[in-house]
Amino acid sequence: MSRNTFTRSPRMPGFQPKGENEGDGRQGHFVSCTIIKTGKARLKCAAMNTVADSSAAALRAFRRRLIGAATAPYRSAGHFAWHFARGKLGRDPVFFSLLARGEFPPTVRMTDLGCGQCLLANLLTSAARLFEAGDWPASWPPPPRLESYRGIELMPRDVERARPALPPGAVVEQGDIRHVDFGPANVVVILDSLHYIDHAAQDAVLERARRTLAPDGVLVLRVGDAAAGWPFMLCSWVDHLVTWVRGHRLGQLHCRPAVAWQRKLESLDFRVHPQPMDAGTPFANTLLLARLGNDK
Ligand SMILES: C[S@@+](CC[C@H](N)C(=O)[O-])C[C@H]1O[C@@H](n2cnc3c(N)ncnc32)[C@H](O)[C@@H]1O
Repeated sequence: MSRNTFTRSPRMPGFQPKGENEGDGRQGHFVSCTIIKTGKARLKCAAMNTVADSSAAALRAFRRRLIGAATAPYRSAGHFAWHFARGKLGRDPVFFSLLARGEFPPTVRMTDLGCGQCLLANLLTSAARLFEAGDWPASWPPPPRLESYRGIELMPRDVERARPALPPGAVVEQGDIRHVDFGPANVVVILDSLHYIDHAAQDAVLERARRTLAPDGVLVLRVGDAAAGWPFMLCSWVDHLVTWVRGHRLGQLHCRPAVAWQRKLESLDFRVHPQPMDAGTPFANTLLLARLGNDK
C-alpha cells in the first residue's frame, strides 16, 4: 500500500504534539521542552517546533479531508443536512477520538440508537476508503471495516436527511429505541440520546443492548454527567434549545451522574472505561466504553 507524505512524516523522538493521539484536534504543542539557555539549544528547539507544528498541521489537514469525504453524501440531502454534518463532525471530539484511539473492533456490525443523521456510517466508510488509499495518520490504528450499519431514529425529519446520504449496505429506520428490535450487532452506539427516555426505559434499553452484544461486543455510550454542576446545566439547556430549534418536542430530560451510569453498566457485566468527551466544548459529557468479553 502506498502512503502519502503525511503518514511517512518523521517524528522527533521524545516529543509529541499533545492531543494528537487523542484525535481531539487541539493545536499541537510540546508535552515537555528543554529550557533554552544557549543559542545552540534555541536552534534545536526551533527545529523541533517546526516538526511538531507541521505534524499537527498535517493532522488538521487530514481531518479536513476526512470530514469533507464523510459529509459529501449529505449534499444530496439538502443544505441543512450538509452544514449540520460538517459542524458536528468538525466540533464534536467524540468521532475522531473513537478512530484515533482504535476503540472499534476490526469488523463492525453497528446498531446506532438515536442515530440522528447517521454520521458514523459515513465517517467509518470514508475512513476505510482513505486508509485504503494510503491517506491515514501514522499514529492512528487502522480504521474498522463497516460490515453493516443500522440506525434507529425517532424523528422522521432526521431519517429523511439521513436516508439519501447513506453508504451502501447501511440502513436507517424510523422508530423508538424503546420498542424497535436492535438486530444483530457487535457495536451498539448511543450518543447523547438515552436521556430523552425515563430511567426504567433507559435500563431496559441497556439490558437489550447487552443481550444484543453478547458475548464480546462493545457499547459506546455518551452521556451528560449530572454531577458536573454548571457545565452540565449549560449542556442540558443547550440540548433543550437545539432539539426545540430542530422541531423536536422531546420533553423532560432524564439524566444521571456519570458514576451512576458506570455502575449500571457494570451491573450488566460490562467492563467500563469512562473518559471525558467534551474537549473544546463548555459541556460535561462522558464517554463510557463498555465491553463484554476479554478483548482490549
Ligand atoms: C442529540 S441527538 C444525537 C444524534 C446522534 N446520536 C449523533 O450523535 O449525531 C439525539 C437523538 O436521539 C433521538 N431520540 C430521542 N429519543 C429517541 C427514541 N426514543 N428513539 C429513537 N431516537 C430517539 C433524537 O431524535 C435525536 O436525533
